[in-house]
Amino acid sequence: MRLVLLGAPGSGKGTQAARLKDHLQVPHISTGDLLRAEVAAGSDLGRQAKAVMDRGELVSDGILLGMLEDRFSRPDTRNGFILDGYPRNLAQADALDGLLTRIGQPMDYAVQLEVPVDLLVDRIAGRAAAEGRADDSPESVRTRLKVYDTQTAPVIEFYRAHGQLTVVNGVGSLDEVFNRIVEAISPATEVG
Ligand code: AP5
Repeated sequence: MRLVLLGAPGSGKGTQAARLKDHLQVPHISTGDLLRAEVAAGSDLGRQAKAVMDRGELVSDGILLGMLEDRFSRPDTRNGFILDGYPRNLAQADALDGLLTRIGQPMDYAVQLEVPVDLLVDRIAGRAAAEGRADDSPESVRTRLKVYDTQTAPVIEFYRAHGQLTVVNGVGSLDEVFNRIVEAISPATEVG
């Protein structure tokens, strides 16, 4: 199963991907987590990315594609993956499509988690208080939501046009949202 989770910051992509990974037995690939690991390791890439991430802007497409190619070259992705945080703009959507075509692994589903903006802001404020993630400050969140509207939302239309999009209501308990996603992707789950 090859699945991409789409949705605004705070829509629950990371939370649901962690559960789907166990359910589908495929790795969860989060570009945000990959970048935060580079920042934590103090690598050159991490140093370049940190200021951009803290402002809530997008790290360059070239850096992201290199990271993703590297991750897809690992054998654990052969049976599929859950992608979270990529693609973030139309150039990334095209690049991913080309990459997956090259490796003969076309996407099965793009699942968009739909959550109203006031709830997104509440969830991120809750995480800011609990965890203090560097880009969860009110200013950075405003930028992340704006970047999502202007650059990432068109990616939804990209997957709709490719007949791969399924929209899931992201409001409710973790179990409710999880069950909705599993139901939405069940035809592909059954065929393996
Ligand atoms: P990234 O890590 O991808 O952040 P994001 O998209 O802003 O997503 P979030 O982690 O805020 O939200 P989420 O949808 O995963 O929600 P979550 O499950 O955590 O990217 C960070 C930065 O890295 C970007 O701004 C950019 O700079 C850079 N970057 C990453 N990918 C890039 C790319 N492709 N190109 C360029 N730059 C890139 O949930 C949020 C909170 O809500 C949690 O506290 C959770 O517990 C809670 N929650 C979740 N679901 C529910 C629920 N149903 N009910 C109640 N609470 C819930």
